Amino acid sequence: MKKFSNLKIVQVKKELSKKQFIEILHLIKKENNHALVSRLNENLIRKYLKIAITSNNIFLYVLKKKKFIIGYALYTKSEDYLIKDFHKIRFKILANLILSFRFLTLINIFLAITKIDKILLNKKKNLKKNCLNLNLLAIKKEYQSSGFGKYFFDKTIKNIHKNIYKFKYITCEAPTVGSVNFYLKKNNFKFVGKKIRITNNLTVLKKRYYN
Ligand SMILES: CC(C)(COP(=O)(O)OP(=O)(O)OC[C@H]1O[C@@H](n2cnc3c(N)ncnc32)[C@H](O)[C@@H]1OP(=O)(O)O)[C@@H](O)C(=O)NCCC(=O)NCCS
Repeated sequence: MKKFSNLKIVQVKKELSKKQFIEILHLIKKENNHALVSRLNENLIRKYLKIAITSNNIFLYVLKKKKFIIGYALYTKSEDYLIKDFHKIRFKILANLILSFRFLTLINIFLAITKIDKILLNKKKNLKKNCLNLNLLAIKKEYQSSGFGKYFFDKTIKNIHKNIYKFKYITCEAPTVGSVNFYLKKNNFKFVGKKIRITNNLTVLKKRYYN
């Protein structure tokens, strides 16, 4: 479709340039302000993205329009790799959150580590095997609601399935009504349950992938 003809999707495999990093940083801070990563300082977000790029289990994609990044997505082979692969910066993350008085975020981490956050989840529906987890996704504000999010999501999962990892299901956790609508209405995800968070619970969703 013409609307998408000047868009380019790239999996980031090399270190980000300063410009690319700043563009992704802005998206994280402005659009993903519910996510833990957005609470971290710039230096730690840089480390976080570096780990993601070099990991075999985490995949970072960007959506480019001309020379500018207007969207990004971070996938993991399963949710567990988020904890495993970011293990080496866990103390830095904790210190950063404590020093910046992010106590609600710390309580949310506690809920996740102790798995207390999963008590409202149906275990049978909460798949783990053969799953691809969409951890973070954002489209720059001025380009939202133009179909770019769906286009980017469809293309990136197709690329991962074809070239990297043969998953059967995709899972994600949506923090807002808008993102829940995006996954349920636009991308045929199904409702799985809720994960408890202090300020607003996360909606857990899943989708069977057919290629
Ligand atoms: C969710 C997001 C990635 C979707 O990207 P997008 O380019 O706007 O998506 P599309 O244009 O393909 O689809 C838009 C649809 O998603 C839903 N939607 C997305 N954001 C919405 C919002 N704030 N309020 C209501 N519905 C919303 C609607 O169904 C919308 O359809 P409409 O425009 O016809 O009303 C983008 O809105 C975004 O970056 N949001 C902030 C970050 C975020 O919530 N990320 C997801 C969780 S990690």
